Amino acid sequence: MDTADYLRSHIRTVPDWPAPGVMFRDITPLLQDPKVFRVLIDTFVHRYMDPTLRPTVVAGLDARGFIIGSVLAYELGVGFVPIRKKGKLPFNTVEETYELEYGSATVELHTDAVKAGDRVLLIDDLIATGGTMMAGRRLLEKLGAEVTEGAAIVDLPELGGSAKLRDSGLALFTLIDFE
Ligand code: PRP
Ligand code: ADE
Repeated sequence: MDTADYLRSHIRTVPDWPAPGVMFRDITPLLQDPKVFRVLIDTFVHRYMDPTLRPTVVAGLDARGFIIGSVLAYELGVGFVPIRKKGKLPFNTVEETYELEYGSATVELHTDAVKAGDRVLLIDDLIATGGTMMAGRRLLEKLGAEVTEGAAIVDLPELGGSAKLRDSGLALFTLIDFE
């Protein structure tokens, strides 16, 4: 079995959650198994250790982007910054509002989280409509940083988010597609 199939076999699909018609792709079984979690993190570490792709900062999207992003930043020896749902960050923030597959949301980033010249890897568990990652990218760019790549475990290509992100000029790396 190749790596993508191995990881895919540890993602659980929950129909009609959190709303009717949504097939929720749940990564918790993957995180729960130490061998699979290690394969996941090692795959990202291997890619981003490459000097041409190595970021100066990893930015994780609330909430599951924190789980993989922080471990990855630790392994790469760079800092981790959280992009949080509105109302959670205590210091001065910039904010962006966007539409989701099921609702809308506002995300925030501390104004001192990144600086001009930073090369940021933006990471989340999954790309659906792409709204979350697009909003995260806008926040980082507002502060003068460059988003060198967006990364996620899962892409849902039928929702068009990854195509939209690539069309906007963002390089993307994802491990598994679900239709
Ligand atoms: C999920 C997922 C991504 C986002 C992707 O998070 O973890 O962050 O949706 O959707 P998009 O590509 O359409 O923007 P969710 O909003 O469910 O929040 P949570 O992490 O707090 O559960
Ligand atoms: N975020 C948006 N759509 C999702 C889905 N289908 N599964 C998991 N997270 C999501």
